[in-house]
Order: sequence, then C-alpha cells, then structure tokens
Amino acid sequence: MKKKIIKILKKKNKSKIVSLTAYSKNIATILDSHCDIVLVGDSVANVLYGHKNTHNVKLETIIEHAISVKKGIKKSLLVVDMPKGTYSNKKIALKNAKKIIKLTKCHAVKLENNKKNYDIIKYLVNSNISVMGHIGYTPQFKKKFKIEGKSIVKANKLLNDALKIEKAGAFSIVLECLAPEASKLITNKLKIPTIGIGSSVYCDGQILVTDDLLGMSGFYPKFVKKYINLNTTIEKTIKKYSKEVKLEKFPSKRNFLNG
Ligand code: KIV
Repeated sequence: MKKKIIKILKKKNKSKIVSLTAYSKNIATILDSHCDIVLVGDSVANVLYGHKNTHNVKLETIIEHAISVKKGIKKSLLVVDMPKGTYSNKKIALKNAKKIIKLTKCHAVKLENNKKNYDIIKYLVNSNISVMGHIGYTPQFKKKFKIEGKSIVKANKLLNDALKIEKAGAFSIVLECLAPEASKLITNKLKIPTIGIGSSVYCDGQILVTDDLLGMSGFYPKFVKKYINLNTTIEKTIKKYSKEVKLEKFPSKRNFLNG
C-alpha cells in the first residue's frame, strides 16, 4: 500500500485527521503544512462557479483545479472528487480515475455513495487506485438536505453502507451530515478512518470547505465554524485601494519603476 495512505490509516484511534478543501495553488500551499488530507471537492461548482449544486461540474474543470492545487502540495494526501456521471460504471470510472491521476498526480479519488457503486470502488482499488468513500448527505445523488441516520434503523443502514465501502477497499470515508450517534457507531465499527463534515466530534477526522471557514462563501450552516470573516477584510482592503487610486495616493513614488 502507498506510504501516504498508510500514514492516514495509522492515525485511526491515535490522532485526529485534519482535512480541508482547496481549488488553487495559493490556498493549497497554506493548507499543506496543517492538513493531513487536501480535497479538490466538486463543491468548486457552488463555491467558485456559482452553480446551485454540484451536478454539472466537468471532469476537465476538476482536473484543472487539481493541477493547480498539486503545485502547493508537498506533505499532505491529495484527494480529487470524481464529478457526477464520471463513474457510472466500472469501465467509465477506471478510465476517468486514471485520467485524473495521470494529469493531476493526485494520490486518491473520492466517490459519493449511491448504494450501487461498491463494485466500482472494488474495481478501482484492484486497479491500484486509492479510493475515499462518501456517505450520508451526498450532494450528487440527494435532492433535499437532511440529517442522516437519526433513528437506530437508519444509523444501521448507513453502517451497512460504510462496511460495504470498507470491504470494497476504500482507505477512508467521508460522513456528511450524520446524526452524532450514527457517526459514533460507524467510526467505532470501521477499521478505516471516518472524516466528518457536519457529523460531530466522534469521527476520526474533520473536513470543511475552506471558503466556508474563511467566511468567503456566504454558506454558513450550523456545522460550519466561520473562523474569520475574510469577506469583510477583503472589502475594506479593496475600498482603501479604490480610494487611493482616485486620490492619486497609489501608486506613490515608492511604487514607480525607475528602470
Ligand atoms: O466537494 C466537497 O467539498 C466535499 C466535501 C464537503 C467533503 O465533498
């Protein structure tokens, strides 16, 4: 098994796994020193392109962003989301996963669960591709947002899905918007690490969309902690620049190029 994957697996029950999303080199360079996993998520569709969901993001778009992100990655594990429709059967999934890995040099791909793609995960893993699973609220396949696994029956169904993904060979699994007890149950039963988003502290690690925690996306559900309101800082900075240009304070003599 690949070294970086082993490092992630070894963290289970020892130390929390820190993960965030990135869509460009500049952010990736900062994240790389502090994150175990950096994900080029298909959330790029909503966050950067203003789409209302992730359904229409192109493989080529994700690849372009991942190529940029890779330039900032030295130590962390780089995972790239496979967009909706790019893993509809084994052959298509393998062709596209290979394309992503070849062009971006990422370390793994992520697939959302639609309760049918366990054999696709197995096929990719048998072809030496590292796969991260994703259960719970899976934006590619769910129309309406809701917290998943609230009842014992539903939590057990999710556990069953998670176990099938583990058995198929995934090295870890994202739990998105699961009730705390469901996250606890799944995290305790699985050998592979769980990475939570909106799924409580019981997961082996956490992931957030970086633009959300920086206060830049305008999307702040309860599970997001806005660590800073960067939009306000940027706004103030741009206002200052605009004023200085109009008052001819910028460029000042020190910004002149004198040959
Ligand atoms: O696309 C994404 O950013 C994701 C995370 C929310 C896990 O899948």
